[in-house]
Amino acid sequence: MLQINIGRRVGVWVAALTLVAFAAPVALGHTSAAPKLVGSPTAGKTVFTSTCITCHMLKTVSSGGSIGPNLNKVTALDENTIIKALTCGGAAVMTKAAVAKYTTTMAAYAPPALTQTQITNLAAFIFSETHPKGAVPKAVVSKTLPKC
Ligand code: HEC
Repeated sequence: MLQINIGRRVGVWVAALTLVAFAAPVALGHTSAAPKLVGSPTAGKTVFTSTCITCHMLKTVSSGGSIGPNLNKVTALDENTIIKALTCGGAAVMTKAAVAKYTTTMAAYAPPALTQTQITNLAAFIFSETHPKGAVPKAVVSKTLPKC
């Protein structure tokens, strides 16, 4: 009886170790790319100065407006989240309470308002301005724009 019990336990361990052996390469990122900044911050700055500056302040951009949130304070947004804010409108990534402080509602800039490339470049610019130099996003940036 005792021997059968031991046999089962060993069997479970072998199964567990086999699982670990198969799962480890995935966990180490062998099957998906590591997160990195996507888009050009320089190109994004140009779009920001023409399209967003009326309502938002952001570090290296002078004379930004205060109709919308001061983006210097928005330091926790990952690149995917910024892309969502631009595609669906800023309110899509904010709490109702935070949105309630503003009398204006930001438009959604999904194509055709801006192209996907312009949105990604803008997100790269805002991410770079609000994170330490060389920081990379926490999550892999999606190849497609989010659904709103
Ligand atoms: C007409 C003014 C206006 C313009 C133009 C505008 N926004 Fe906004 N933005 C707002 C307001 C107001 C909010 C707060 C949410 C709401 O009420 O819609 C907001 C929210 C945001 C947020 C989320 C901030 C947070 O606290 O999480 C981001 C990011 C953002 N805007 C970026 C942009 C970018 C980039 C552009 C240019 C493509 C832009 N906005 C254009 C007014 C504007």
